[in-house]
Amino acid sequence: MTVRLGDTAPDFTAETTQGTIRFHAWKGKSWAILFSHPKDFTPVCTTELGAAAALKPEFAKRDCKIIGLSVDPVESHRDWERDIEDVTGHTVNFPMIGDEDRKVSELYDMIHPNANDTLTVRSVFIVGSDNTVKLTLTYPASTGRNFQEILRVLDSLQLTAKHAVSTPVDWQAGDDVIISTTIGDEEAKARFPGGFVTKKPYLRVAPQP
Ligand code: BEZ
Repeated sequence: MTVRLGDTAPDFTAETTQGTIRFHAWKGKSWAILFSHPKDFTPVCTTELGAAAALKPEFAKRDCKIIGLSVDPVESHRDWERDIEDVTGHTVNFPMIGDEDRKVSELYDMIHPNANDTLTVRSVFIVGSDNTVKLTLTYPASTGRNFQEILRVLDSLQLTAKHAVSTPVDWQAGDDVIISTTIGDEEAKARFPGGFVTKKPYLRVAPQP
């Protein structure tokens, strides 16, 4: 199944390192990030999980829960978590799905057979408070993801969900934003009392609301 932006994130029940989880019930009205790892006891994944654990407080500040997945069993995840702590200094503090039967991997199209027919790719799904998919990313097994970038995108998604703005290239939280072309200058003056700069009629820049 292909999961696209705007789709309702498919619900599932899965065994995890923190017990049985029903995805929609577990996330509730929070945002959530579901991400897959090709395999337990592999080097790149070990570094990624340590980084994700270190950033969990930042995700929590944004009311965003995180949940990992690999096609190995929960017991294997638990053993691997000891190595992750040992190597990275971070305790894995979020649930890891044991997707031995690949039910969730297939539901979210995380196995790309022409890359590898048994392991998942490195998928990321950011799901909004309304349960719709806001972002998807796919990385190969050989390239670790940048979790600071995932946090940056989350900041943009949450800001643009709330205000009529978009965020420019390389934007970081606190930088200027672009006023949506769907609102005219008069409305923009009311919504952005700090003012804005019109670089082109379609490119108006304002301080982050
Ligand atoms: C890794 O995490 O290093 C990895 C996992 C699966 C295949 C290749 C590399």
